[in-house]
Amino acid sequence: MKVLVLHGINLNMFGKRDPAQYGTATLAQIDAQLVSLGAELGADVECFQSNHEGVMTERIHAAHAAAVDAVVINAGAWTHYSYGLRDALAILKCPIIEVHMSNVHAREAFRHTSVFADVVRGQICGLGVDSYRLGLRAAVAAVQGSAA
Ligand code: DQA
Repeated sequence: MKVLVLHGINLNMFGKRDPAQYGTATLAQIDAQLVSLGAELGADVECFQSNHEGVMTERIHAAHAAAVDAVVINAGAWTHYSYGLRDALAILKCPIIEVHMSNVHAREAFRHTSVFADVVRGQICGLGVDSYRLGLRAAVAAVQGSAA
């Protein structure tokens, strides 16, 4: 099973951003945890980050071509306004889990909206790195459920 973990704009700066919202783990540390959890769950996890919306869009197109089994995405601020990424995600046939480190609903009003909400299988937020870990578990379970 191939699971693609996508990190959007500014997320390469985890470890340097507000620790009250995002903790202290770096993106490399988060990715290492996900690869290792993926191995435990029987999933081959690939992680990708970009600060460029077009590059991220093309990575999603490539995921379609490669028929990945599931996607876990934290698109950062793009979540709240990128119809381009939303439309790219909508092309995918596989389950998509949206995750956020912070509790976006307890923050500024603009973070309360996800333009991805209707194209993702589910959303997890507010649990720090556990949001990603639970997101990966949810992605694997969604694939296993659809195969059953
Ligand atoms: C975030 C929440 C977004 O609102 C914010 O723009 C981010 C990170 C999170 O992981 O909590 O960059 O997606």
